[in-house]
Amino acid sequence: MEERRKLILNQETEEDTIVSLSLRPAKLDEFVGQKDLLENLRVSIQAAKQRQEPLEHMLFSGPPGLGKTSLSYIIAHEMGAHITITSGPAIDRAGDLIGILTNLEQGDVLFIDEIHRLSKVVEEFLYPAMENFKLDFIVDKGPHARTINFNLKPFTIIGATTRSGLLASPLRGRFGIFHHLDFYSSEDLKEIIHRSAIKLKVNITDDAAKAIAQRSRGTPRIANRLLRRVRDYAQVKTTHGNIENDVVDQAMKTLGVDAVGLDDLDRRLLGVIARQYKGGPVGIDALAATLNEEVDTLVDVIEPYLLKIGFLKRTSRGRELSQTAVKHINGEILCPDALQQDFLQ
Ligand SMILES: Nc1ncnc2c1ncn2[C@@H]1O[C@H](COP(=O)(O)OP(=O)(O)O)[C@@H](O)[C@H]1O
Ligand SMILES: [Mg+2]
Repeated sequence: MEERRKLILNQETEEDTIVSLSLRPAKLDEFVGQKDLLENLRVSIQAAKQRQEPLEHMLFSGPPGLGKTSLSYIIAHEMGAHITITSGPAIDRAGDLIGILTNLEQGDVLFIDEIHRLSKVVEEFLYPAMENFKLDFIVDKGPHARTINFNLKPFTIIGATTRSGLLASPLRGRFGIFHHLDFYSSEDLKEIIHRSAIKLKVNITDDAAKAIAQRSRGTPRIANRLLRRVRDYAQVKTTHGNIENDVVDQAMKTLGVDAVGLDDLDRRLLGVIARQYKGGPVGIDALAATLNEEVDTLVDVIEPYLLKIGFLKRTSRGRELSQTAVKHINGEILCPDALQQDFLQ
């Protein structure tokens, strides 16, 4: 059950962290898709290198599993820089941030994941550090209080967020470069699956790679995760261990992943809106309560793809089901290719 849940929730699991080290693209050339973004990045990196300056602070936004962390590692690598990894919730006191910042060397990259979850106090310290590489802090109290100015070595902050809308505008304003990552086409996902299959040393047919790609909800992390599950299935259930179309179909059935890549939780969400709320509109809090899930999980992880493929609509009065979603719930088989064409290209 726990395994099933991990598969459903598109969040980094321990297994991902270990396996993704080997599947994670190491260089810009290995990063599939996001063409415009990569082109802009190449220019930024080359320009900064020519000027022998650190890159401008950069913000990546987009749903989980689309490559924000991978890109940050790649950028540090391409800049020949050392990378320090932290996250918004991990820095709970200003002292933690000061410790991190004062340890950075010239040109280092500081990666702050979930940057929208930084506390206000910590954010205030970050502003002068980002703007002119200075830290101002007051030590002691009362008559002995004095301000200490500390000069930092020029560095680059790369922030990642699934919810750029939650970022305080002064913080957003301090990033020179802003990139949004969007869902991947199934062509790009197919290429990622082929590359991962080579790294995992498993044979996969083009049809099978396509079948997995179409069920990956536009998300490389899900593509890799489904590939690993199908590989297990092929290893145990076939004599040759190769991944072919029928193996994919059977594995997907046992995993509860349907023809367009939706899983239990997606379907439960659609089903609740259809049956309990007559197609909506329904507020997100009511939905979360009915499903017994966190609002953040629904908004960050589940909704974005359903919105993207036009199954859900977000209106001022809440979430509504589309006609396509109703057809899907009613079991009218939707061809995933048609979906991809309608909504993803
Ligand atoms: N463009 C890409 N090309 C190849 N693999 C990718 C790409 N983007 C993501 N991945 C794969 O998906 C996994 C999750 O990506 P990650 O960078 O952790 O996403 P995020 O930080 O946005 O949640 C990576 O470990 C990598 O294996
Ligand atoms: Mg990440």
